[in-house]
Amino acid sequence: MKLLVLNGPNLNLLGLREPEIYGYKSYKDLEEYIQKTCSEENIDVSVAQTNHEGCLVDQIQEARGVFDGIVINPAAYTHTSIAILDALKAVALPAVEVHLSDLSQREPFRQISYAGMACLKTYAGFGFEGYRQAILFLKDYLEGGKKT
Ligand code: DQA
Repeated sequence: MKLLVLNGPNLNLLGLREPEIYGYKSYKDLEEYIQKTCSEENIDVSVAQTNHEGCLVDQIQEARGVFDGIVINPAAYTHTSIAILDALKAVALPAVEVHLSDLSQREPFRQISYAGMACLKTYAGFGFEGYRQAILFLKDYLEGGKKT
C-alpha cells in the first residue's frame, strides 16, 4: 500500500509558527512521526510540503496510478482552493483531510473546507495524532475494499 501525505503552506514553519495553536514540534518532527507510523503499519509513504497551490495540484494529479490514497492538510488553501478540490475529484483516489488545529473553534473564514468536500473523512484538532488516525483510516478503507 502506497500513501501520499501532502502538506500545504506554512506547515514548514511548524514549531515557530503560532505554537500556541500548532504546537512546538517542527515540520521535521511531523515527517518523522508520519514515517514511523507508516513503517509500523507496513505502508510505503511519501511525505511532501509546498507553499504553492499549483504544486499541490500537480502532486495530486501525479499521484494517480502511483499511490493508493492521499492524506492532505492543504493548510490555508483548505478554505480557498477549488483547484485542489477539483484535482482530488479528478484523480478520485481515496483522500482524508487533516488539520492540526480544531477548525470548528476558530475564525468564521476557516469554517469552509473545499478540499474536505472530496475527502472521505476529516481529522481536525488532534495535532500530529490526526495524521496517524487518517493513515489508519485509509489503511482500513483500502484493505476493506480489497476483501469485497
Ligand atoms: C491548518 C488550519 C488552517 O486554517 C491554517 O491555514 C493552516 C493550518 C491546521 O493544520 O490546523 O495553515 O490546516
